[in-house]
Amino acid sequence: MAVLCLIATTLKPAKRRVECIPPAAEPDCQRPIGSPNPARNAYPRRLGCTHLAVAHRCLFHHYQPCLNLMASVEIYIDGQYYAKEDAKISVYDHGLLYGDGVFEGMRAYRGQVFRLDQHLDRLYESAEAILLHIPMEKSALAQAVQATVQRNNLQDAYIRLVVTRGAGSLGLDPAKTSNPQVIIIADHISLYPPELYEKGLEIITAATIRNHPAALNPRIKSLNYLNNILAKMEGKQAGCDEALMLNHRGEVAECTGDNIFIVKRDQLYTPPVDAGILEGVTRNAVIELARQAGRVVHEVALTRHDIYVADECFLTGSAAEVIPVIKVDQRTIGSGQVGPVTKQMHAAFHELVRQPA
Ligand SMILES: Cc1ncc(COP(=O)(O)O)c(C=O)c1O
Repeated sequence: MAVLCLIATTLKPAKRRVECIPPAAEPDCQRPIGSPNPARNAYPRRLGCTHLAVAHRCLFHHYQPCLNLMASVEIYIDGQYYAKEDAKISVYDHGLLYGDGVFEGMRAYRGQVFRLDQHLDRLYESAEAILLHIPMEKSALAQAVQATVQRNNLQDAYIRLVVTRGAGSLGLDPAKTSNPQVIIIADHISLYPPELYEKGLEIITAATIRNHPAALNPRIKSLNYLNNILAKMEGKQAGCDEALMLNHRGEVAECTGDNIFIVKRDQLYTPPVDAGILEGVTRNAVIELARQAGRVVHEVALTRHDIYVADECFLTGSAAEVIPVIKVDQRTIGSGQVGPVTKQMHAAFHELVRQPA
């Protein structure tokens, strides 16, 4: 440990990395306290860490996160790797100008990307739906994703795979673009504080409805996430970390970045794909796990009333994994505690993702 700390303090960081240790792991992380001794502040500053107290503690007591801080994130763009601060694409890219492109969010466990094939199938289907040609074979892209995780020395990671339309003129016309950009970022994500997995989330229903499938089908995981962002902002304004979105028919669709399940009399219910939702990879894994455990799963239209009177409620997503919900629109769900079926699904999912591929 002492040796590692010494290495940590003497090695020069190869590249600057701005992220600090997540607040969940380091509760003091929100307190950017500088040391009274300016010399002690210099090293964390060189790392790009704005939370000096944490950086100091990290250097001397948490050598592993510290070594992670020192490592640069290497980002894949179009077949090349770039340090995070050098990973850039054109400001004329229609991905930026119009949200014209598609993406996936995935997780790796023990170095292996969970259900990579399913994520890639969805990516290529999303691209096909918007007539975007991904300039790589699926198998080559799978290798590139896995290689990016390895190159960053990550075991448990969050991966963002983005394909933009490419740079073009300032008009909308995708025919005037060329060179779609394939971007792979392998890093960490901490969506919700860990205690919420124990206690459960409180959510509200957003007034913003999910995109009408005839306008922009939610099955397309496009770079245009404004619909979800507007609903997310409503949630945050109401003091909630997630928000429930209804569809154009007033039925329950999904949350801003997660699918929703309820439990009633030991059976599971979740909206069907034609309710205007993203067909979540985690959703499908949970359905499989529940059925393997002998539970009945219904993919049926749900109303807000169904949610309010449910025994249990939980959300699923690659970033969130399986997270319980205990309150919706101020209504306590079931007992207000995380229920047994939710706990079972959470445990089963965690076991599944850690199985060898
Ligand atoms: C709108 C929306 N619904 C559901 C999900 C969950 O999908 P998955 O389990 O494939 O991550 C996501 C994930 O990004 C999402 O953005």
